[in-house]
Amino acid sequence: MTMIVDQDQDVETAAMDHPVLFEIGSPGACGASLSESDVPTVDRSTALPPELIATTKPNLPELGELDVVRHYKRLAHRCFSIDGNFYPLGSCTMKYNPRVNERVAAMPGFANVHPYQDESQTQGLLEMMYRLRCALAEIAGLAEVTLQPAAGAHGEMTGLMMINAYHRSRSETRKKVLAPDSAHGTNPATCAMCGHEAITVKSLADGRVDLADLREKVDGDTAAFMITNPNTVGVFDDQIADIAAIVHDAGALIYLDGANMNAILGKTRPGDFGVDVMHYNTHKTFSTPHGGGGPGAGPVAVAEHLREFLPVPQVIKREDGTYAWCSDKENTIGKVRSFFGQIGVLVRAYTYIRSLGCDGLKDVAEKAVLSANYLAARLKDKYHMPFPPPYAHEFVTVPQFSKTGITENDIAKRLIDYGIHPPTMSWPIHHCLMIEPTETESLATLDLFVDVMRKIADEAVNDPDVVRAAPHKTPVRRLDEVSASRKPNVRWRFE
Ligand SMILES: Cc1ncc(COP(=O)(O)O)c(C=O)c1O
Repeated sequence: MTMIVDQDQDVETAAMDHPVLFEIGSPGACGASLSESDVPTVDRSTALPPELIATTKPNLPELGELDVVRHYKRLAHRCFSIDGNFYPLGSCTMKYNPRVNERVAAMPGFANVHPYQDESQTQGLLEMMYRLRCALAEIAGLAEVTLQPAAGAHGEMTGLMMINAYHRSRSETRKKVLAPDSAHGTNPATCAMCGHEAITVKSLADGRVDLADLREKVDGDTAAFMITNPNTVGVFDDQIADIAAIVHDAGALIYLDGANMNAILGKTRPGDFGVDVMHYNTHKTFSTPHGGGGPGAGPVAVAEHLREFLPVPQVIKREDGTYAWCSDKENTIGKVRSFFGQIGVLVRAYTYIRSLGCDGLKDVAEKAVLSANYLAARLKDKYHMPFPPPYAHEFVTVPQFSKTGITENDIAKRLIDYGIHPPTMSWPIHHCLMIEPTETESLATLDLFVDVMRKIADEAVNDPDVVRAAPHKTPVRRLDEVSASRKPNVRWRFE
């Protein structure tokens, strides 16, 4: 009875196969052996006021250690994870997280440091942050980076705050922020958070920005154009230099949502194609185990003309070679996060960058792109591809099985039976699957995925009921998804 929606008998039965801890064990069983108390025993009826004395014992499970270990192991085995399964969840970049990252992040000088510790005691950490700051600026082709933001969305907000500060410094207040219709939901949400009006710019049939629509919508009231490149349909917009010129001509700035940087690492630099501000999603591009909302980090890189607005404190290198926090910035937007950022995630990003080096980072981009294009090429006769190749690191397919009515949702559920995590569904276009294999999967895994997808396509035509009823091999069968997200019943209750 883990995460169950009160729905049908099947669900109840499946859930009961593995009882919860409250339903197993026996009175007197105990998983812990406590040492003898070394403080005097007191009579609680005299030591405590009556209203604080419990009259009933809490109904806690009584179990041996092995029962508890097996219970949690069993639950852990039910989880999908990148360590256990292929996870082509488009846009989320669920790639392998090298173990060396974990070893470095666990080093006491990184893991046990306290934010109030003196700079003299944290020189190693500060040096790592300074070097990461410089490496990210170099990869972006921009002037300087703040490591403070705690996620991509937080980076967007930090970036827009700096863009606002830039316009204010020129005695302007600009209301509108433009973004293409394929933008991630965090882009318009960030606009709203920063007090902007979010305006959608149309995309062409091939997934690139409609320049005519952009020209029509950009004006003297536009603060920025937020673009994701490569974008969320897996297309690198090769008009980016023209886009930057159009936007800059109106006095607005280009914000790059850098969530898809793994496709262009070391190949091209946003600063070189006209970007003024961008964020990284370090947890995707430079690996960190993430999912379900975190953990992450969203460093923001800015061009020279925005440097003065960067958040403080900033990590700096002094002339004597030591490192320090510097808050000496007159026009800063201030602090956007308590203390200094998501240190553990930043250590992992730095380790990843250093262990791969320049050539390794280029290799990441080449393999991410190659893997996506390989899958698309091998699936295109069975699955409709609405956008023309070549793709960047991911691609979108809209399954078309109108005769049997099999939908993207059915295919996603059927993939689970084959031990594969469903791709992103129904975003950024209706009825699509967005597939991102990432650069870390072997050819054998990619081929297996192709075989499974082709088999499901055949099932969708010849045996649709089996697809429609999937998944068949999970502890909980198909849920009513609306109830599962709106009325999740995740609590165990005593009868
Ligand atoms: C294109 C794009 N932009 C922004 C974000 C938001 O990033 P985060 O989840 O780190 O806040 C995501 C996250 O998936 C994304 O895919």
